[in-house]
Amino acid sequence: MNDTLDMTITKAEQSRLTVTDFSQLPFGKVFSDHMFIAEFDNGTWGNLQVVPYGPIPMSPAISALHYGQAIFEGMKAYRQANGKISVFRPEKNFERFNKSAVRMSMPEIPKEIFMQGIAALIDIDEKWIPAQDGYSLYIRPVMFATDPYLGVKPSDKYIFALLTTPTGAYYSKALKVKIETEYTRADDGGVGYAKTAGNYARSLYPFAEAQKEGFDQLIWTDAATHEFIEEAGTANLIFVINGKLVTPSVRSTVLDGVTRDTIIQLAKKAGIEVEERRVSVKEVIAGIENGSLTDAFAAGTAATVTPIGEIGYQGKTYKLSDPATRTISAGIAKTLNDIRYGLAPDEFGWNW
Ligand code: COI
Repeated sequence: MNDTLDMTITKAEQSRLTVTDFSQLPFGKVFSDHMFIAEFDNGTWGNLQVVPYGPIPMSPAISALHYGQAIFEGMKAYRQANGKISVFRPEKNFERFNKSAVRMSMPEIPKEIFMQGIAALIDIDEKWIPAQDGYSLYIRPVMFATDPYLGVKPSDKYIFALLTTPTGAYYSKALKVKIETEYTRADDGGVGYAKTAGNYARSLYPFAEAQKEGFDQLIWTDAATHEFIEEAGTANLIFVINGKLVTPSVRSTVLDGVTRDTIIQLAKKAGIEVEERRVSVKEVIAGIENGSLTDAFAAGTAATVTPIGEIGYQGKTYKLSDPATRTISAGIAKTLNDIRYGLAPDEFGWNW
């Protein structure tokens, strides 16, 4: 890593650790004592600080609120079996963060700010990393435009922040998902591959409609034909068809998931054939009906590996195999967890 950056550290007067119930950690609701902030102004990043977690005063005219220049990431820090702390593949998130920044006409964040910011924050809030199995400290980098200006143009000022939240599983059970064929998440030439706020905002209404029908999540299809499966919005999708791992290829409408990439590499190493290609809705439904589709799961940082139990399509519900009987996804999930918690050798060098 480059030289140590100048950073101001202001400690919280009182830690909230003692009043935090670590047996109750719903995703993203409990924040650690501190956050990291950097500011972009006059064409450069500066004013690096670790400060107590809390409100950031700002104008209601900031362009993030009006025109949506806002991007984020998600990664996790783990307390390993030997007591060491590791962050899983943060460089991948760093690279994707800057891809999102470029697409949204935002400044890229220098790698040393991203990485040293994480290190400083984890260092000061290390005790916030849960020790329970399946738990971790979720790290949320976010950048948003702070120019108080209502003209439509890229902002001249930005804040980059790192927040951390101790958490368990995002999903607590196998998912009942609906293949969405009316609304869309992303379209060719758009911003689907960027982790930008608007992608999530546009998914909320269709998701709420699906929830009313009893679904936990949507499977998005391509905007042009609704014939091909893309991703789940909160995670990528992976199927096991005829014993092979089959996943929609990454394209301009599909997020290049770090967990997805990790699982592909682990599967290949385990000798499982992997196909990254377009996956049609027809193929998935036929696979459920003829028994060739034996496993399906969502893969994401927050979601980790979450089995899909049922799929709804055009008013019909298709039941998949009992998640308890699925050896491929369970095996991959275990290997992945063992690496993250330092229980298996980190042959790929993923733990930082
Ligand atoms: C993550 O997995 O880190 C995500 O960003 C998904 C989130 C929207 C729940």
